[in-house]
Amino acid sequence: MNAPIIKRPFDVEAIRADFPILARQVHGRPLVYLDNAASAQKPEAVIEAMAGAMRGAYANVHRGLHALANETTDAFENARASVARFICAATPEQIVFTKGGTQAINIVANGLDIVPGDEIVLSVMEHHSNIVPWHFLRERKGAVLRWLDIDDDGAIDLNALDALIGPRTKIVAITHMSNVLGAKTAAADIVRLAHAKGVPVLLDGCQSTVHGRVDVGALGVDYFAFTGHKLYGPTGIGVLYGKPERLSALAPFEGGGEMIDVVERERVTYNEPPHRFEAGTPPILEAIGLHAAIDWLSGQDRAAIEAHERALRDRASEALAELNWVKLHGCAPDKGAILSFSVDGAHPHDVAQILDRQGVAIRAGHHCAQPLMQRLGVTATARASFACYNRLEEVDVLIEALHKARKLLG
Ligand code: ALA
Repeated sequence: MNAPIIKRPFDVEAIRADFPILARQVHGRPLVYLDNAASAQKPEAVIEAMAGAMRGAYANVHRGLHALANETTDAFENARASVARFICAATPEQIVFTKGGTQAINIVANGLDIVPGDEIVLSVMEHHSNIVPWHFLRERKGAVLRWLDIDDDGAIDLNALDALIGPRTKIVAITHMSNVLGAKTAAADIVRLAHAKGVPVLLDGCQSTVHGRVDVGALGVDYFAFTGHKLYGPTGIGVLYGKPERLSALAPFEGGGEMIDVVERERVTYNEPPHRFEAGTPPILEAIGLHAAIDWLSGQDRAAIEAHERALRDRASEALAELNWVKLHGCAPDKGAILSFSVDGAHPHDVAQILDRQGVAIRAGHHCAQPLMQRLGVTATARASFACYNRLEEVDVLIEALHKARKLLG
């Protein structure tokens, strides 16, 4: 797990060879997997790390006095340290393991001290995981949600954000990259504006973490949430990064073992972060898998992967723009390889089903972003989302499949 990381020159075929599932067929056609924003596929290194732990060194963590417990605890804490390095956190103690990005955001929302009239600033481009926890505060504690609009490309107006942040603002909670439009937000500027008024910022990094390099220290962000399964890692694990003083100020989320200091009949005290937020047996195998995913990704030439993903985005955007029966939603220049579109006269679900018969996996629906759908004036979109293992030629397969869908549905 701690082997020195040697960067591999970018070669999409070599990358594909690491992902066994990409060799399979679907409906008799080669799989073209363009649903990476929903969940990415896993390299052999992740599969083997998890299976290897179950075969060779597995027990519960932090509790044992035997060899397997100690080895597994080391593996679990090494995973925490690898996450810290990956997002440039100063110390592993700033990394809380959660069951996903959603839980990470819920921990923050649940832990804030809210009184009626306190305000939460969020954008209309958020995933429900960065909306519903704040609705809980509105419903249960009388918080007020203050919504930041976007332009048609998914860009945020920083002046409008500045105007929304007031003396009652408790937090700005905003996506780092939209799961629908691929639009990246100006995170450093958002943090600067909020901090100028003493307001903390939570960034939802569920999409951004896989598509670019994240440096939480340079961003200055107070909380950063992301998930393992979009990062070529397993499901069932996510991460909450927090500045030490911010994590310490949050009330605990779940109660149970490991998150406590002392439990008596009439009194309980809590462990320090990160353990305060990790009640119960944590996602041990998943942390080991996430560590393997991070090692795998860190072993690649990430700048070359970013360039490859830009090429995928450009090829797909240009090809879709040529189809006068397709509307592409959100064309910000600084967007990732996530493309949402509508096909004239066809429901996105029907489009996705016809594409599936041709081996092309996309997502269709509201993408857990209903306020954004309302802003775009649609109920659903089709979405093709790319990963480092997608070939440029797969864009052509997508376009060909769309022509077929148009013929069948038009
Ligand atoms: N958040 C995931 C998506 O955008 C599930 O599809």
